[in-house]
Amino acid sequence: MLVTALSASSRYGAELAGAPFCPRAVPWPKSCQRRLRGGNLDYQPTIRWISAFEDRVSLFPNLLIWHKLMAAFAAVVAVIFVSSAVVYDRLRVIEAAKNLRVNTTDVLDTLDTALEAMLDQETGLRGYLISGGEKFLEPYHKGRDNFSAAIKRIRELTSDNLAQKIRLDQLNELAKKWRVEIAEREIALMAKPETRADAHALEASGSGRTLMDLVRATLDEIDLVERDLLAKREAVQKHAYAIAYMMTILGGAASLLTALLMGLLLTRAITTPITRMTGAMAALAKGDTGIEVPGVGRGDEIGAMAAAVQVFKESIIERQRTQADLAHFNRVATMGQLTASIAHEINQPITAAVTNAEAALHWLGAHPPDLDEVRQSLGLIVADGTRAGDVISQIRALIKKTPPPKTRFNFNEAVLEVIALARTEVLRHDVSLQTQLAEVLRPIEGERIQLQQVILNLILNAVEAMTSLEGARELQISTETDAAGGVLLTVRDSGPGLDPTNVDRVFEAFYTTKPDGIGMGLAICRSIITAHGGRMWATANKPRGAIFQFTLPPKQDENASAEHAGQMPTG
Ligand SMILES: Nc1ncnc2c1ncn2[C@@H]1O[C@H](COP(=O)(O)OP(=O)(O)O)[C@@H](O)[C@H]1O
Ligand SMILES: [Mg+2]
Repeated sequence: MLVTALSASSRYGAELAGAPFCPRAVPWPKSCQRRLRGGNLDYQPTIRWISAFEDRVSLFPNLLIWHKLMAAFAAVVAVIFVSSAVVYDRLRVIEAAKNLRVNTTDVLDTLDTALEAMLDQETGLRGYLISGGEKFLEPYHKGRDNFSAAIKRIRELTSDNLAQKIRLDQLNELAKKWRVEIAEREIALMAKPETRADAHALEASGSGRTLMDLVRATLDEIDLVERDLLAKREAVQKHAYAIAYMMTILGGAASLLTALLMGLLLTRAITTPITRMTGAMAALAKGDTGIEVPGVGRGDEIGAMAAAVQVFKESIIERQRTQADLAHFNRVATMGQLTASIAHEINQPITAAVTNAEAALHWLGAHPPDLDEVRQSLGLIVADGTRAGDVISQIRALIKKTPPPKTRFNFNEAVLEVIALARTEVLRHDVSLQTQLAEVLRPIEGERIQLQQVILNLILNAVEAMTSLEGARELQISTETDAAGGVLLTVRDSGPGLDPTNVDRVFEAFYTTKPDGIGMGLAICRSIITAHGGRMWATANKPRGAIFQFTLPPKQDENASAEHAGQMPTG
């Protein structure tokens, strides 16, 4: 359906590219006609795209199988690669964000240290101012060193952040200013007892506290910026995690889907045609030459296989034709052997008809004419004519080039018909014929005339084999149901028999021991039986002679019981 739609589109595409196209059977809608006339072909790109897609789709079956496989694997690998690349990229973002977060946390911790160091300096100074004890200056000195170290560390950690660097410089300046203008001066004033009051006065002026507040405010500002950064980095990390998760799931699903799609495509493009080809080959092996070889004309290995199978099919057809010709030739030759017999079979009813006609004339000439007798004689003439006609049509059927198709028939009746045809030939050679037909036999499905031809061949071979014989010439024909429920036919003779070391040779084509023989009779018989699903073989008869037998299988869906079969007399 899709292909039909697409090819229709591409056809329109081709037409649109050239002269305006409006199919006669299905006229274009008015709007379309207007557009075409106006030359406004704004849907042409779509049509071109569809044509391109169609070309690509029809290209796939023509790709060599390894190209198909490579294309399918490449598609799956590409999907896996793209999704893995995205996941990898997101993981890198997560890693970078994590490092930055560690860095920001470090900055925040160091800021705390800086704040503590400032506090230490402030408390140390205040203790010294109150007590005048030198040992109170220890926290001050320690705090000063710690503060410098902390600022240095923060500077390192935020080296890539210019705004923070400026804030740090401001902080450093403020701290320095506090130390130089307040702390160091107060310490110097405290060193002398006479200036201690000045030191207290300076402290009381509040300028130290103001500076210290500015230091704290700057520290807070730096802290706030870092916390903001931390929050942003957390958000980036979270987002990257979400994308990585999503891509892992989506990538997995897409790979699975692509693999499935490719599997489907490969099944359609490789497995299905191969299965069809195997089916066609199996049918050909069974001799069904009516089958179409699929995939002929494809550009891949399946196409090459199809071409080879096509050659194979043609040679089978040729062989079948040769075989049919040979079989026909054999049939005509067999009929030639039966000429005397046939002449007799036809002559008999004709003679009888003449006799009956004479009788009719006799009864007509009587005074008064005996019309009842005349009617009876005429009835007999009709029966004689019909009999002669039947014999002729049977002979015609037997030598026809193309045998009629398979039918369902009573096997015993077919055997009796053949016997009737060969009877005179048998009697002419002083052969005593005995038939032993099964009373109940399942109907057979097959080519009736061909199977009759087989039986006739066996009878004539047996008669011919016995002609050179001095002793009793006995021919026995029997039918029975075999172990598989099919039919078994046996033709026994008392002739010279077969070469016990190589019985099967007689079935070889062109094997004959007769000066005017063709050697095709038994080969054709066996191929006919095999084509019917049966088996044919030969054994030695006791005390002498040959036995030829064949089986025909019961019909597969055979559920007809034996009641349907004909009841045949034994004789
Ligand atoms: N009933 C038989 N008894 C002995 N030999 C037989 C019998 N039927 C066939 N043969 C042998 O098998 C050969 C092949 O038979 P066939 O294929 O019918 O070809 P043809 O009859 O033309 O020779 C015969 O020439 C004969 O030697
Ligand atoms: Mg023969």
